[in-house]
Amino acid sequence: MTTPTGSPQPAGLENLLHENRSFPPSPEFAAQANAQPSLYEEAAADRLGFWAEQARELVTWQTPFTQTLDWSDAPVARWFADGTLNAAYNAVDRHVEAGHGDRVALHFEGEPGDTRTVTYADLQREVSRAANALAALGVQKGDRVVIYLPMLVESVVAMLACARVGAAHSVVFGGFSADALRSRIADAEATLVITADGGYRRGAPSALKPAVDEALAGEGTESVKHVLVVRRTEQDTAWTEGRDVWWHEALEAADTYHEPVWVDAEHPLFILYTSGTTGKPKGILHTTGGYLTQTAYTHRNVFDLKPESDVYWCTADIGWITGHSYVVYGPLVNGATQVIYEGTPDTPHRGRWWELVQKYKVTILYTAPTAIRTCMKWGADIPGEFDLSSLRVLGSVGEPINPEAWMWYRRVIGGDRTPIVDTWWQTETGAIMISPLPGVTAAKPGSAQVPLPGIVADVVDDEAKPVPDGGGGYLVLSEPWPSMLRGIWGDLQRYKDTYWSRFPGLYFAGDGAKKDDDGDIWLLGRVDDVMNVSGHRLSTTEIESALVSHDIVAEAAVVGANDETTGQAVVAFVILRGEHADRASTPEGAAEVQAELRNHVGKEIGPIAKPKKVLVVPELPKTRSGKIMRRLLRDVAENRTVGDATTLADSSVMELISAGLATTK
Ligand code: PRX
Repeated sequence: MTTPTGSPQPAGLENLLHENRSFPPSPEFAAQANAQPSLYEEAAADRLGFWAEQARELVTWQTPFTQTLDWSDAPVARWFADGTLNAAYNAVDRHVEAGHGDRVALHFEGEPGDTRTVTYADLQREVSRAANALAALGVQKGDRVVIYLPMLVESVVAMLACARVGAAHSVVFGGFSADALRSRIADAEATLVITADGGYRRGAPSALKPAVDEALAGEGTESVKHVLVVRRTEQDTAWTEGRDVWWHEALEAADTYHEPVWVDAEHPLFILYTSGTTGKPKGILHTTGGYLTQTAYTHRNVFDLKPESDVYWCTADIGWITGHSYVVYGPLVNGATQVIYEGTPDTPHRGRWWELVQKYKVTILYTAPTAIRTCMKWGADIPGEFDLSSLRVLGSVGEPINPEAWMWYRRVIGGDRTPIVDTWWQTETGAIMISPLPGVTAAKPGSAQVPLPGIVADVVDDEAKPVPDGGGGYLVLSEPWPSMLRGIWGDLQRYKDTYWSRFPGLYFAGDGAKKDDDGDIWLLGRVDDVMNVSGHRLSTTEIESALVSHDIVAEAAVVGANDETTGQAVVAFVILRGEHADRASTPEGAAEVQAELRNHVGKEIGPIAKPKKVLVVPELPKTRSGKIMRRLLRDVAENRTVGDATTLADSSVMELISAGLATTK
């Protein structure tokens, strides 16, 4: 583990602490905001009482809870444990019962331009049908269902249908490979997979079902009884009789009434796999009551949601936690109207997102810094062609946002008028933890600033002591929170080791952070072997394992190098096996090896994990105990003078690496 001071700093963050611009909310915004300064006082006066009140106000319980937090089995929390509820009922039915059945829940926009408008009443019928269809396929309370779909209305319906029958969903991002899918199905012992024939990507249909077929031919997937297939692209699809079932046929046959299965607050809602510091992805487990409470609370207060008038759009895919918490559960529990979009921002043209903002009069936009930087690169003229005046709150998530991108976002997209909320959180935290409140906080470009009311976070040094204002260290969360993970699926010990052993009694987030002179928090990126590429978490070890699984590779080391657009980029250093060592001795040979290995990683993990560069080297820099010094490789990857190499077992290795690269570049 590197120290925070030596940690990789994402692009443009080196000057962070000299940033002193500040943007207080306008008096008009502040006056109408959901969250007022008193929220901090209320939460500080009685933290648990505050959360109990949020849970009662924002969520409907079948059986009210009497106990707020049980921390006696720490670090596994139980929130609102004696209450019962259903997540789908909270996200859908209760809005219809309250007379909002005609309100639009989803404005779906397909990449080819097809659209679908789904009201809360429509959603209730669809989710009920899907729940009955799942039940007819044998899915029961406590089962796991893997969802491998593009961004479609059916994806939201599928997740809610699982919740309705009390089955935990495990969504696997549609860009992951068959093998990544297989290992997740096996780990969760899923009984059903929900997929589609394909989805539209960059103007063309892209098949999904073949990856499911391949995954299910692999080891450990015997638990799967059926595959439910949404028809989207209508491309030819191989079919396994008896196992595969068309979604539309199953739904047509199903009743539109379904009684939700009431579950305990601590009943599993979903498992979502994320990269850790080892090769094996972790199945992050979230449960029902606390998760719904905090996603609804944060969605309402951080984005200042007014369900009657706002049109909200979060650009995340449901394959990531942001899609779970801020496309599905938070917004729908709050009865919001939202846009969901299937495709990429530049299809068929680079103004597609802004065209959608104009078309649906989007008021709240939540996206990632990498997308903002990409749009910056394309130029302000493109958003300038559209009417973005409906926007009133902008959000950022996934990685530190550099002040330049923040300023551009505010000026070009927000018309110099909208508050920006830079929201820090993780798959593990389930919901936003550190963020400005748009009507309260004077925002600083590049800083997530303050823990939300009800959340306790700090920055500590190596000895777990809080650092003074102006100091740097590790970000920790000092008190349990309602939407915290309840563990890693099937591996409680790994949960304890990963998050609770570094600083006993404190949740270690894995992020470096600094406090400025006002005590505001600035996130500085990961301090472990996790990379953040375009806001997606990737593990160095996982990519290294994929590389060494290729015949020609003897050893591999992967680093995240600063990248102007994607925050970090994957750079791999590989040693080829003896008989292949000569293959990279010419520039053409090196390019060929690079292409072969990039494709291999794409196939093993998924296209997002493909290294930007693969550099063939004769040696890797290792300490005497055999640990690879990634810091030195990062220097090479970022074209910097190589830093202190005195702790290397063989100090000449770095010269050998640099000399070798100079000849092949
Ligand atoms: O390093 C932090 C970074 O993303 C990590 C969590 O990744 P994931 O679980 O994939 O969830 C991403 C979406 C919530 C964190 O450990 N991160 C996320 N948001 C921010 C951030 N870093 C800085 N500023 C943020 N706003």
